[in-house]
Amino acid sequence: MELAGKNVVVTGAAGGIGSALVARCHAEGAKVVASDLASNIAVAEAQITRLNVSRGSSAVAVAADVATERGNQSLIDAAETAFGAIDVFFANAGVAIGRDIDTPETDWQTAFNVNVHAHRWAAKYLVPGWVARGEGYFCSTASAAGLLSQIGSAPYALTKHAAVAFAEWLSITYGDAGLKVSCLCPQGVNTAMLRGGDEPGAGPGSSVVRAAGKVLEPEEVAEIVVAGIRAESFLILPHPEVLTYLQRKTGDYDRWLAGMRKLQARMLTG
Ligand SMILES: NC(=O)c1ccc[n+]([C@@H]2O[C@H](COP(=O)([O-])OP(=O)(O)OC[C@H]3O[C@@H](n4cnc5c(N)ncnc54)[C@H](O)[C@@H]3O)[C@@H](O)[C@H]2O)c1
Repeated sequence: MELAGKNVVVTGAAGGIGSALVARCHAEGAKVVASDLASNIAVAEAQITRLNVSRGSSAVAVAADVATERGNQSLIDAAETAFGAIDVFFANAGVAIGRDIDTPETDWQTAFNVNVHAHRWAAKYLVPGWVARGEGYFCSTASAAGLLSQIGSAPYALTKHAAVAFAEWLSITYGDAGLKVSCLCPQGVNTAMLRGGDEPGAGPGSSVVRAAGKVLEPEEVAEIVVAGIRAESFLILPHPEVLTYLQRKTGDYDRWLAGMRKLQARMLTG
């Protein structure tokens, strides 16, 4: 799908990847709704002001908490009121919280609400309209952790696998009705989430993610996402080596698990 002339919604738009997606989609000629928590919306509003200077009435910021069904519904209502039918929805907001199985229950709930349930709540309000129109594009930001695993964070590994599973299910169920689905699965990206990853109580430590491979800039990721959407590819892998790791995993699960345990031991001792 070409983004020029399309109406696009990005959640988690005050952050690294989300903000870069907003800029890149707008540069492609889309109208953009940038959404984030009310506590962060000023950052998105500043970006929107700049975008509207370059092209009038082409972008709005909407505060919404996607960790609730109501937040997703009100975001979609506000976006449709601003620009009309939504063509592309980036379910990008995410949290990296929790480490072990003793992660507090409230953190487990937040991780599932933001990283998984937000995607299905958004889809619940988008898909009927898309099926009626015979088109619509759902782009889920999962993670390489959703295809492989996440050393050091059970909540992140579980919720990102669930996000990949939901994106697969959407594509299988509605692909023949015209719905396009992509699933973005990066490794390290230079954002506040990665930089905060070594804080106590945070999810995947920065050191683990940095050791896994090159850390990309959000703008590089956004460019790859736009190319993936143009090609209508399901898997968008800014780090292409993730496909090799996935093939190794599915080719010999036990060997892959042993390798992951070795990597974990190296991380703990290093
Ligand atoms: N940075 C990485 O290395 C990396 C790697 C793989 C996947 N990801 C994923 O990319 C996505 C974007 O993360 P990022 O790296 O840009 O980090 P980020 O922390 O800069 O951005 C995440 C954004 O999500 C928003 N958010 C959190 N909870 C929300 C809620 N309840 N409602 C609305 N917005 C909410 C935050 O306010 C923030 O602006 C996330 O889904 C993340 O899991 C990041």
